[in-house]
Amino acid sequence: MLAKDLIKHAVDAQNNAQAKYSKFYVGCAILSNDDKVFLGCNIESAAYPSTMCAERVAIYSAIAQGVTSFKAIAIVSKLSAKPCGPCRQIIHEYLGDIPIYVSNGQDEDYETHSIKDLLPYPFG
Ligand code: THU
Repeated sequence: MLAKDLIKHAVDAQNNAQAKYSKFYVGCAILSNDDKVFLGCNIESAAYPSTMCAERVAIYSAIAQGVTSFKAIAIVSKLSAKPCGPCRQIIHEYLGDIPIYVSNGQDEDYETHSIKDLLPYPFG
């Protein structure tokens, strides 16, 4: 699957985001080695720290379904936001060194990052 197609899946997930407090809508799609797509969106709570990021929703969902090998991850938000610190840690531990596509979900262009760049000197 091409990057732009995985990004389209992330946009679909972004449309499901529950972000009534921040109004910052994030979507994520991860592609497994056996070419399955797992989606995540951010889900906010009135008890703010209970909020969960789109990336970890997607990763935890895949793992809960028994999938542990991945080819790529796409993350979409209005500002082309890179993953937060805790998500970087989980990407490092559970996805490893795969392409991280970041997009605003609207333009054709996208960024490609690696977890080595986003999380140098990781813990673990
Ligand atoms: N958020 C994500 O979904 N992923 C990140 O990597 C950073 C932040 C969400 C959490 C919250 O719902 C909103 O963006 C604003 O922080």
